[in-house]
Amino acid sequence: MYKNLIEMFRENEGKGAVGAFNLHCFEMLPAMIAAAQELGTPIIIQTSLGTAEYIGFEALIAAVKALAQKADINVCLHMDHCKSIEALKKAIDLGYSSVMYDGSDLPLEENIKNTQEVVAYAHERNVSVEGEIGSIGGAEDGIVVEKSDAAYTKPTDAIRFVKETNVDALAVAIGTTHGQYKSKANINYELLETLQDKLPDVGLVLHGGTGVSDEDMKRCAKGMKKINVGTELNKSYIEEVNASFPDATPLTSLRKLFTPANDHIKRIITEKSTLFKI
Ligand code: 13P
Repeated sequence: MYKNLIEMFRENEGKGAVGAFNLHCFEMLPAMIAAAQELGTPIIIQTSLGTAEYIGFEALIAAVKALAQKADINVCLHMDHCKSIEALKKAIDLGYSSVMYDGSDLPLEENIKNTQEVVAYAHERNVSVEGEIGSIGGAEDGIVVEKSDAAYTKPTDAIRFVKETNVDALAVAIGTTHGQYKSKANINYELLETLQDKLPDVGLVLHGGTGVSDEDMKRCAKGMKKINVGTELNKSYIEEVNASFPDATPLTSLRKLFTPANDHIKRIITEKSTLFKI
């Protein structure tokens, strides 16, 4: 079934977090949904704007909807970290069931104002919205950039942001970083508990899942509703195709060359989604 985050969170209440996995190319998609289907868990397929443009919005949305309709599980198609309101409106008009407006590098007032515009447009069309407050940041070539205290989500700002924007999900900065594949994140659980306590009605989202240990994943799944994993899928795909392509001849079926990479994607999604169940 094709769902937005509001419906998905409601139906998954008390069962842990839903895995949100970044789709990097079209080839990965059937393997991702098949993994969730076999495990019987919901799945959020998320794309960057770049991936949506690379595959083509219409083809991507039609494929996710068709696979969702055939599956007995809930599937959401979510636009990850988008800073363009126009692009989000396009994604909503064409059929994404959920979007994220990322105004985290703007002054708070401006982030609130822009997020309000996206929420108004999305909710009228039965699409859910994720916002971001604080700065989750990134890693360059797997080397983590040190996080200053100022980058963590401030609870007072988060409370104001949720109240004024009415977002359905909120990305919070609690110590994880995007693209951290060489080391493990140090999560600030005191901050997470404060956010959970002060914001009981919004779906808290953990970004940067690649650098999070299994133990931390399990602990976060108790208080958060959505956990994002991206880099680990991209990394495994590159490793698998690097291993399978060098011996290929022009007569080798491409299908056979992609199969190990797709199988690896399935394994990662099964492992992570199992950790997210409580
Ligand atoms: P990773 O690439 O670090 O897993 O993070 C994914 C993410 O949070 C996407 O928004």
